[in-house]
Amino acid sequence: MANIELAKDVYWVGVIDWDIRDFHGYSTRRGTTYNAYLIVDEKVALIDTVKSNFSDEFLRNINEIINPSDIDYIIINHLEKDHSGSLPSIAEKAKNAKIIASKRCGEDIPKYYSGLSNVETVKTGDQLRLGRKTLQFIEAPMLHWPDSMFTYIVENAILMPNDAFGQHLATSERFDDEVDEATLMEEAAKYYANILMPLSPLIARKIQELIAMKIPIKMIAPSHGVIWRSDPMKIVNAYMRWSEGKTVDKAVIVYDSMWGSTAAMARAIAEGMTSRGISVKFFKLRDSDLTDIVAEILEAKAVVVGSPTLNNAIFPSVAAFLNYIINLKPRGKLWAFFSSYGWGGGAVKQMIEAAGKAGFTIYNQSIEAQYAPTKEKIAECFNFGVAIAERIKSS
Ligand SMILES: Cc1cc2nc3c(=O)[nH]c(=O)nc-3n(C[C@H](O)[C@H](O)[C@H](O)COP(=O)(O)O)c2cc1C
Repeated sequence: MANIELAKDVYWVGVIDWDIRDFHGYSTRRGTTYNAYLIVDEKVALIDTVKSNFSDEFLRNINEIINPSDIDYIIINHLEKDHSGSLPSIAEKAKNAKIIASKRCGEDIPKYYSGLSNVETVKTGDQLRLGRKTLQFIEAPMLHWPDSMFTYIVENAILMPNDAFGQHLATSERFDDEVDEATLMEEAAKYYANILMPLSPLIARKIQELIAMKIPIKMIAPSHGVIWRSDPMKIVNAYMRWSEGKTVDKAVIVYDSMWGSTAAMARAIAEGMTSRGISVKFFKLRDSDLTDIVAEILEAKAVVVGSPTLNNAIFPSVAAFLNYIINLKPRGKLWAFFSSYGWGGGAVKQMIEAAGKAGFTIYNQSIEAQYAPTKEKIAECFNFGVAIAERIKSS
């Protein structure tokens, strides 16, 4: 791997995981990267490590620049194993290196890696002088683990916020201006929606805190994907929008169906919405990936969910979807429900109960069809779509 310099003496020494398609359940169709950075100054600092199965490649990357035994500090911004997994291998080579971490990270490191005790903890505002360069630390608890921390290189105005502002995107390019912008923003949005959405209030506050600190930011170097150098405010502004729950005129229809009745209702609702010019994304749950659906929901104004009744209950894939989305705490959306049933029904009632308990805004109508929807019921579904579309347009 050719040495990539972000600024003089600041190197990317991460690895590219081209093959990964399932990242703890998150579908990574474009792979990912584990970014780590090396700062060579009078003292040498390594910022984060990589997943353990890439330890050898990681050590080779460092070796191309310096001897790993010359590392003085290993900064662990976040304990999750995709970033700390190679800590034991690197600590083994850099015998005298001090591990620098937040207080919580310092407490938790032995819970993954017993025997690593050379840890010094830092807090927001603490600085570490390397020589010509200075590292400044900013604690970021619950962004997205309690241990999370950002590291900032003062002289280069480079922010290394670990998972924040990251994207699961494996590319041979390392910088935002070298990749397709639409692909980059799609992956950044998917990352936000699936990993950070429940933490939106904290993110909004952290961004305000960074603004109040008045630190210049020339580059944002996250721990996954490409580095934001052409316009770092682009992703900061997107995070502000997403954290405030800003939406666009778009609806997502999510459903499942055993024998086609709920599916027919879903199609009629979609037609009603599109007849009023609303953009619709349409997902049959058993054929779709939950993390892709959530990415589409991020900026949607309405989510319409359909489930057949199975054994007096919500269909399992729909129940799993609701369980996932409820705990991601999406904000600012209208939720509506529909169902086909055979005899006692129950799916719609239970979906509304679950959404109500989660504090979602629920549309004041729902639609149920007994077995296959009649022509009249299909027309009702179309009108249901029209009414939700009008509500989207007027809000
Ligand atoms: C295994 C099975 C269990 C069912 N359980 C119920 C039930 O408990 N209550 C009910 O009202 N309908 C029940 N139904 C009927 C379905 O809800 C009904 O056929 C509905 O139209 C299915 O919608 P779909 O065509 O979208 O799959 C059941 C159907 C199947 C196949």
